[in-house]
Amino acid sequence: MTTPKLTLVDTAATSATADGIVIGTVEGKGGLELAPGAQPVDDAYGGKLVETLRMLGATGKADEVFKMPTGGVLTAPMLIVVGLGRPGKDGTVSAEQARRASGAASRALSGVGRVLNTLAAVDLTAAAEGSALGAYLFTTYRSTNGNKPLGRVDLAVPSAKDSKAKATLKHATVVSQGVAIARDLVNTPPNDLYPGSFADRASELAREAGMDVEVLDEKAMRRGGYGGTLGVGGGSSRPPRLVRLHYKPADARARVALVGKGVTFDTGGISIKPAQDMENMTSDMAGGAAVVAAAVVAARLKLPIEVIATVPMVENMPSGTSYRPGDVLTIYGGTTVEVLNTDAEGRLILADALARACEDEPDYLIDAATLTGAQLVALGGRISAVMGEPTLRDRITAHAQQTGEGGWAMPLPDELRADLDSRVADLTNVTNRRWAGMLVAGVFLREFVAEDVPWAHLDVAGPAYNPLAPYGYTTKGGTGVPVRTLAATLTDIAENG
Ligand code: BES
Ligand code: MN
Ligand code: ZN
Repeated sequence: MTTPKLTLVDTAATSATADGIVIGTVEGKGGLELAPGAQPVDDAYGGKLVETLRMLGATGKADEVFKMPTGGVLTAPMLIVVGLGRPGKDGTVSAEQARRASGAASRALSGVGRVLNTLAAVDLTAAAEGSALGAYLFTTYRSTNGNKPLGRVDLAVPSAKDSKAKATLKHATVVSQGVAIARDLVNTPPNDLYPGSFADRASELAREAGMDVEVLDEKAMRRGGYGGTLGVGGGSSRPPRLVRLHYKPADARARVALVGKGVTFDTGGISIKPAQDMENMTSDMAGGAAVVAAAVVAARLKLPIEVIATVPMVENMPSGTSYRPGDVLTIYGGTTVEVLNTDAEGRLILADALARACEDEPDYLIDAATLTGAQLVALGGRISAVMGEPTLRDRITAHAQQTGEGGWAMPLPDELRADLDSRVADLTNVTNRRWAGMLVAGVFLREFVAEDVPWAHLDVAGPAYNPLAPYGYTTKGGTGVPVRTLAATLTDIAENG
């Protein structure tokens, strides 16, 4: 895990001890302009900075990074000029623009020791998170250590002693570390991250954070009646696990249950997937990783809420011991499911976990899963779908948008339930219609949630993994979505119930 050290400084950017100074620019109506925080640097350049940058071809557009030598104008030897894009109608820039720009700057600074970032003038949380997340590198599997991460980011604030600023930075640091935890788990290849090793890593992280840990192996799961997870996990030589992490502070004002899909690799099983892009299914445990990370964040921040994370972990493989289309599985709690497609495996393991989580009588139940390709069809690679009980759904959606992770509320139409009627069992795991695959999965999950438990479901199939080029603070591979949304939701519940 690589995130830079984050500190607050109130020394002037022009005389700071650092290898570089990061300033922002925006795409104004008449061309490049300076973003908040850049003024003292411009003064040092005799007010000529805009002119100079325009001459170099800088435009202020998002993700644009210019690095230039300061030639003694500043004490730091390098100036890093990063674009935030177009300001809003009122002329201001958003926190997310500063977060992305800080991330783009960090991505351009691997190998550098220490920089000062002036974008805290827009938003301290955003500058801190963006700087940390953009600097993330995953080099465990490189035989040559070419890339060194950015070492340290100083965030320029009016007063480094200010207790509110300190608390804000602490929060942003812990949340960024949580994102890095989830990214590391997702980025670890499936030959090394399988149910047993995922359970071990989750347990270690949780114990370090002071949580109680319970890991059910195959035998314990059989005794408990976790037929969904045992069914899906049966095809792999690497047996399933069910992990339960419990953070219980003395001053808890609410109990939140988190559930995450932990499919360490999804071949589709007997209903096997095409070879094209199958490697991306290494990310099919991203919901589980995010839930583990969010519980760790809650514990490290000592939030006054109880958090119970339940993560079923399986590898979905085709073999002589696989479950098959036509099988009937008995989910935890007794509901039976006729399997029509072994590639709709996530909902089967989540069914066990949701039913189990409801027995804890949580005040809120939130699950996260890379559940359907239909999520990508509906909302694309960057916007998560949020379904479930409307009040909780909309609350989480607001946090998804506010944190910059992105999210959109989606409905769970009752009429879809009839499409899941089975010839032999209580319900089937898929329908024979093409439409609304993401909502069908949500309607399926709802069958396993107790009536009186407010529940929301996040489908993060696209947003949890970035197979394309990096942008802003989003690196290639695991993105850490929806860790920040969950952390913000838990913080909100800790503050407001
Ligand atoms: N893990 C996949 C969903 C997925 C697809 C995640 C693309 C990330 C990117 C899930 O288990 C799956 O295979 N879903 C099927 C369901 C179908 C068989 C009803 C799908 O979406 O095709
Ligand atoms: Mn699948
Ligand atoms: Zn899957």
